[in-house]
Amino acid sequence: MKTKVTIIGFGTMGRAIAKALSGNDRTVKVFSVEKNIKNMNITGKNIRKSNFLILAVKPQDAKEAIKQVKKYFDKKTILISIMAGVSIKKLIYLSGRKKIIRMMPNLGLSVGQGIAVWKGMGLSKSEARKAKNFINKITDNFEVQDEDVINKATAVSGSGPAYFFLLADCLIKACGRLGFTKNESRRLVEKTFSASALLARTGDYSTLVKKVASKGGTTEAALKVFRKRNFDKIVSEAVRAAYKRAKELGHA
Ligand SMILES: NC(=O)c1ccc[n+]([C@@H]2O[C@H](COP(=O)([O-])OP(=O)(O)OC[C@H]3O[C@@H](n4cnc5c(N)ncnc54)[C@H](OP(=O)(O)O)[C@@H]3O)[C@@H](O)[C@H]2O)c1
Repeated sequence: MKTKVTIIGFGTMGRAIAKALSGNDRTVKVFSVEKNIKNMNITGKNIRKSNFLILAVKPQDAKEAIKQVKKYFDKKTILISIMAGVSIKKLIYLSGRKKIIRMMPNLGLSVGQGIAVWKGMGLSKSEARKAKNFINKITDNFEVQDEDVINKATAVSGSGPAYFFLLADCLIKACGRLGFTKNESRRLVEKTFSASALLARTGDYSTLVKKVASKGGTTEAALKVFRKRNFDKIVSEAVRAAYKRAKELGHA
């Protein structure tokens, strides 16, 4: 029997999850709920048939999105929220559902390289097993017991791809200032980053840094600037700010 899924909110993540689920797997049927639903009858039927309902709207749209579909929820359906910050307690309050999974994936799942953390609530052992199998179809993942770990992961892996893109963008701009064309800059940075991601598997990061940076050399000159400007502290402060914001969203 096919696993049926309704995704509420069909933006960047909703679409990426649908793609990950329906890629090669013919055992999953995905329905979507977009804003301003035109045919509520069909949508209602699909929601009732669904084993899993994925909430992929922005946190500020959660109340409205849940309100519009709430009456179609089936008792057995498991609600999976991927919204940053929104707590399980709040999800129970808004949805009236008791079987809930709060999960924090990342955009990596759109290229088969996602990582997610999740916590389930109100699930029987067999439901938790089914949920785990289902999440495995979407992304690499691990379960956590403390819900606050989800806020912490949000600040690291949920937001993380943006930190990486920011660094790449800064490097491309620095390339431009050295006189490279846009196309040359992008090629230099892209190949460097994709190769570094592969090389990362070959050792721990401090050893890898040393492999590139010889004593008194060019890389060391650059690393000195990073250290002098306290790059480590900047990264740590940025992650803390994201973590704080995830907690704030939970109380909003
Ligand atoms: N983007 C990421 O990398 C990422 C990673 C992990 C988790 N998340 C979480 O995933 C959620 C979605 O993020 P996103 O980046 O995919 O946002 P997004 O691209 O803005 O997608 C949200 C979608 O939900 C739609 N929507 C709004 N209200 C709705 C309603 N009442 N019913 C149905 N659809 C409705 C929006 O339509 P309109 O555009 O017309 O308003 C939009 O298409 C967020 O809660 C975020 O915290 C995102």
